Amino acid sequence: MNIFEALRQSHEIQRQLGAQLLKTKGASTERDEIFKQYKIELAAHETAEERYFYIPLLMDDNGVDLTRHAMSEHHEIDEYIEQVEQADQTTSAWMAAAKKLVDQVHHHLSEEEHRFFQMSGKILTETQKTQLAKQYLSEYELQKQKQAAA
Ligand SMILES: [Fe+2]
Ligand SMILES: [Fe+2]
Repeated sequence: MNIFEALRQSHEIQRQLGAQLLKTKGASTERDEIFKQYKIELAAHETAEERYFYIPLLMDDNGVDLTRHAMSEHHEIDEYIEQVEQADQTTSAWMAAAKKLVDQVHHHLSEEEHRFFQMSGKILTETQKTQLAKQYLSEYELQKQKQAAA
């Protein structure tokens, strides 16, 4: 497996959980549970991806701009998560905040898959692509455990 295949696995989970979240209606334990899973998935993926995909890219002059852009989007996603947490689930403001979050995540995933993966494919060596996949996956699993226990 290479780093792109490894990253895409979580992207698919993020897409599924985002779609499930927007289908929930009103305050419910189901909504709480899906949001919790979504938040864990996003946080674990972001951290592991920053450590074992973006940091190596930042070390190359051609990877600086894309890395800055992607990490600022991770930060925006974190802020949208906070807005959802602060919104009242019994009002329509909650769904509006959730929709903003899911839209931002989808925008980010598509930009990574259609632009950054192609650009970074030219920067990283084949050996790096395989090694980073292993490192990313073990960090991702560790972060998921930590997030779930928090
Ligand atoms: Fe990302
Ligand atoms: Fe990603």
